[in-house]
Amino acid sequence: MCGIVGYIGQQDSKEILLKGLEKLEYRGYDSAGIAVMNNEGIHVFKEKGRIATLRDAVNQDVAANAGIGHTRWATHGVPSKVNAHPHQSNSSRFTLVHNGVIENYSILKNEFLQGVELKSDTDTEIIVQVIDKFVSEGLEVEEAFRKTLALLKGSYAIALLDELNKETIYVAKNKSPLLVGLGENFNVVASDAMAMLQVTDQYVELMDKEMVIVTEESVTIKTLDGNVVERAPYTAELDASDIEKGTYPHYMLKEIDEQPLVMRKIIQKYQDENGKLTIDQDILQSFDEADRVYIIAAGTSYHAGLVGKQFIEKMANIPVEVHVASEFSYNMPLLSAKPLFIFISQSGETADSRAVLVQVKELGYKALTITNVQGSTLSREADFTLLLHAGPEIAVASTKAYTAQLAVLAILAAVTAESRGIELDFDLVKELGIVANGMEVLCDAKEEMEEIAREYLSTTRNCFFIGRAVDFYVGLEGSLKLKEISYIQAEGFAGGELKHGTIALIENGTPVIALATQEHVNLGIRGNVKEVAARGANPCIISMKGLETEEDRYVLPLVHEALTPLVSVIPLQLISYYAALHRDCDVDKPRNLAKSVTVE
Ligand code: M6R
Repeated sequence: MCGIVGYIGQQDSKEILLKGLEKLEYRGYDSAGIAVMNNEGIHVFKEKGRIATLRDAVNQDVAANAGIGHTRWATHGVPSKVNAHPHQSNSSRFTLVHNGVIENYSILKNEFLQGVELKSDTDTEIIVQVIDKFVSEGLEVEEAFRKTLALLKGSYAIALLDELNKETIYVAKNKSPLLVGLGENFNVVASDAMAMLQVTDQYVELMDKEMVIVTEESVTIKTLDGNVVERAPYTAELDASDIEKGTYPHYMLKEIDEQPLVMRKIIQKYQDENGKLTIDQDILQSFDEADRVYIIAAGTSYHAGLVGKQFIEKMANIPVEVHVASEFSYNMPLLSAKPLFIFISQSGETADSRAVLVQVKELGYKALTITNVQGSTLSREADFTLLLHAGPEIAVASTKAYTAQLAVLAILAAVTAESRGIELDFDLVKELGIVANGMEVLCDAKEEMEEIAREYLSTTRNCFFIGRAVDFYVGLEGSLKLKEISYIQAEGFAGGELKHGTIALIENGTPVIALATQEHVNLGIRGNVKEVAARGANPCIISMKGLETEEDRYVLPLVHEALTPLVSVIPLQLISYYAALHRDCDVDKPRNLAKSVTVE
């Protein structure tokens, strides 16, 4: 949440910062700002709304070789120009951008800023005012910065400008992601490598509680004790074209369409030279030693975990519990004797999941992260990582990451089964290939999905998704997709649970999207459809080939019964996409949301 950029070098920084912010807009988009520093001083431009609005507000006549920028997802204080970053100290000497939440901001305010008039409602302003106070009391800037950082409780990624030192950007990080990018005669700062790929692909990771002195020529990383840390850069393996929309109207549609390709890439990445699926021996050994697996995740990744549980239990015969990260961290269940933790996170930065990872590492348990982002916090801090290889996912609504998570979980389950001497009665490589082909058919069915969205969802105020067994879990994901981008109130229910309360909500014309992909519960779910139809609902049945009946609205291409979630979710993604379009919603940047939820 919130995105930060910084540049110091020989070029005019404005455009580099604005372009960087455009790439980070997925992290938050309720307001944005930049501060650029030249011989005249620091010039701040900030606006409520999107980067496009900020761009119009920036005075193009101001040239400056150093600057910082921010795109905001509000935590403290409403989205407004005043609360937008950068924030300045009252003396105007210091200007700062911040991503994260300062939990003790009111304590700091009472202790250090009595009598200081604050301009905004943010926790961030406290930081810049406290730094200024310490400097006014005689500390050197670096010392004042370090002293302030040591006082902060919570999460932060910070970039700071000092009007009296035009050669430096001061940077710090704790719990919120931040990278320093290296160039010739320039250096940059970014929440995510994507933002600055336009100027460099060389990045240095920062660890928690580190600060960095960034100049045009040098990058000096220090611990908060002042010790210098040496760290080699890495090459960000991102293709600039991966982060462009190309001819697509929205990232979400592009990412839905990429799913067959991602599927084939995953198969290839997890095969050895003989075409056999393979997973790191250390991971397999950890599974072997475990008596129970705990999957921890949020949102769509949690829904992938629910399906993953089925894969691991049914294929590898290991009991699995799936937990919502934000609950687990303060309400830990009674753990088994030898637990193994799996963290599923597209971004690898979700604060709720990270909080659990920190807890379980403190308890000495092994953790595996399944993520799309190499080098992300959850990847670095876990013992093992399995990558999704899905390419950057930019749309707030997760699509290709979900199916990639399912594919990686299926591979993990199958290879673990094999290593435990369990023989599967199907060839997963072949079956995932069939899934990829099925996905292609579904991606080509856009007109039909648009029609379904128009017919069922153009005017409704709510919608229910029902399914039994694994279809229930896909229904949960379908309902999340629909609600987050179209703002239709959507809920997923287990078919059998309906008559225990929810059926009271069914009215004349209520859309009920029912999934019927599982033979053993086919009759059951069809019975539930009859029950809601008898009460006036407008059912839309999506079934698996071989199980279809005349009343079905769409029949999915046949895939192995264990893998149906990989295809049945695609119509739900497309229907949600078109429902949002029909309602004129901002598909890629839905209200109140951000792609990467880096605050707890
Ligand atoms: O990056 P993560 O997978 O950890 O993110 C978890 C959720 O915030 C995320 O899946 C969210 O629910 C998506 N917007 C859903 O489309």
